[in-house]
Amino acid sequence: MGDQAAAVVVSPHAGSCGATVTGVALATLDEAAFAVVQQAWHTYGVLAFPGQYLAEVDQVAFSRRIGALENTDLRRGEHGSRPTTLTLANINRRGQLVSDPNHKLNQFLRGNQEWHSDSSFKRISAKASMLVALEVPEVGGETEFTDMRAAYDALDEATQRRIAAMVAVHSAAYSQHQAMPDAPLNPEEEQNLPPVRQPLVRVHEPTGRRSLFVGRHARVVEGLGDVESRTLLDALLEGACQPPRVYSHRWSAGDAVLWDNRCMLHRGRPWDSAKARIMRRTTIAGDAPAGTINEWALAEQ
Ligand code: OGA
Ligand code: MN
Repeated sequence: MGDQAAAVVVSPHAGSCGATVTGVALATLDEAAFAVVQQAWHTYGVLAFPGQYLAEVDQVAFSRRIGALENTDLRRGEHGSRPTTLTLANINRRGQLVSDPNHKLNQFLRGNQEWHSDSSFKRISAKASMLVALEVPEVGGETEFTDMRAAYDALDEATQRRIAAMVAVHSAAYSQHQAMPDAPLNPEEEQNLPPVRQPLVRVHEPTGRRSLFVGRHARVVEGLGDVESRTLLDALLEGACQPPRVYSHRWSAGDAVLWDNRCMLHRGRPWDSAKARIMRRTTIAGDAPAGTINEWALAEQ
């Protein structure tokens, strides 16, 4: 084992998910050390790397080692923008704090406070996401994660059997309406994001474990009525996101957190919008089935 790989310390959290990783510099990780990190990530679902202070280019470069980045412009770059990072912050384009909790920007940010898997409303949903904390409030603003493999394992057998072949329809228009009823998707976004089918149970490829796939973008279960669907989806989500399956990350500036959207749900926690919270996210695109392409994956630029 190389020096870097030998120096990696993986400390699993109490409960069934997540680990904190120290003894690494993500900006300069060699292949062997990257392999150790990736293995831990597959096992624990979410890894916290305190005090990395990653520059944007280094965040992008590290994320690309997990896979091609996803285009986070919901208009799919049709206006020439093909962003590799997304800033999630209560700061406007002029760099000013947006403290009004009812401002659209804060409504949008609050959407992330419902349990979800990033881009589950895309035909091929995201593989991973990485958040880097640039500025965080002293109180609140944690991010919580739940391991949906453990949540699946915790279901009784009758429920496992009942949902085995079920498909949920995930829709960005739906979740946007729930979060921001006055700001529907624009026509281009609607066109690029038709409702998609996602199995309720998926297999997490790296570990072969079954995982429950629900969250805020799931609108309805195929073959069930609206009420029955909602009851089932809410019950699955509510049952899943409970201790000991939840890890709550209390941010410090400089932290990087990498999670696996294929087997984890996450949500942000509220904070006082009069305090700045500035986070930089990269999203790693899901793998397309062999021989096909993921229309949301960005070619290297
Ligand atoms: C995200 C997200 C929650 C948070 O970046 O995908 O949901 O706590 N963030 O900022
Ligand atoms: Mn998210």
